[in-house]
Amino acid sequence: MTKPSNIAVLVGSLRKDSINRKISDVLIKLAPSTLSLSLVEIGGLPLYNPDDETYPHVAWTKFRDKVKAVDAILFVTPEYNRSVPAALKNALDVGSRPLASNVWNDKPCAVISASPGAIGGFGANHHLRQSLVALNAPTMAAPEIYIGSADKLFDESGKLINADIRKLLQNFMQAFNDWIAANVKSQVALVASAA
Ligand code: FNR
Repeated sequence: MTKPSNIAVLVGSLRKDSINRKISDVLIKLAPSTLSLSLVEIGGLPLYNPDDETYPHVAWTKFRDKVKAVDAILFVTPEYNRSVPAALKNALDVGSRPLASNVWNDKPCAVISASPGAIGGFGANHHLRQSLVALNAPTMAAPEIYIGSADKLFDESGKLINADIRKLLQNFMQAFNDWIAANVKSQVALVASAA
């Protein structure tokens, strides 16, 4: 049996009761066995300042190492003022420098957004995709997921009570699994050399 791909899950919200964090917990449980998901925290990253690169913050270095070590990245984010929450944008910026060792380069990515609002964080989802283009991270185009009315997804015990959303998330993870298999550079190279 081949080793599962390691996926870093980055949650755009720092809130303890975050809906997006709860969705991430569900995703970790229902992902296919070929994927191993773990959360990578972004809340402790000092704001990116290029002046600090002479003596980079330990938190930056640890974060960069964690992202470098995984095969792919899953973003699960709310929308703040029609865009990406600052904490998540800061994490992207921290990982992007020094430019020659941009940790996002060639990493297959996928994006899920969720909001109590009607448009499910569409603005954040697409602003994030715009940055991922600049970072050369091949991002799964479809299926798209913008989860609206997300405050109604969980009961008081934190259990997902919407079976349709559960199925949607499950299908999404299967599609992401296929996207990773098609886009991980090392796997592509292995297949090419075996042919
Ligand atoms: C929001 N919220 C929000 N929602 C939305 O659909 N579009 C938006 O532009 C914004 N803007 C926004 C800005 C700021 C600063 C905050 C704090 C909140 C509401 C947001 O979707 C809601 O608080 C979610 O519950 C946040 O996600 P988590 O923390 O539950 O994962």
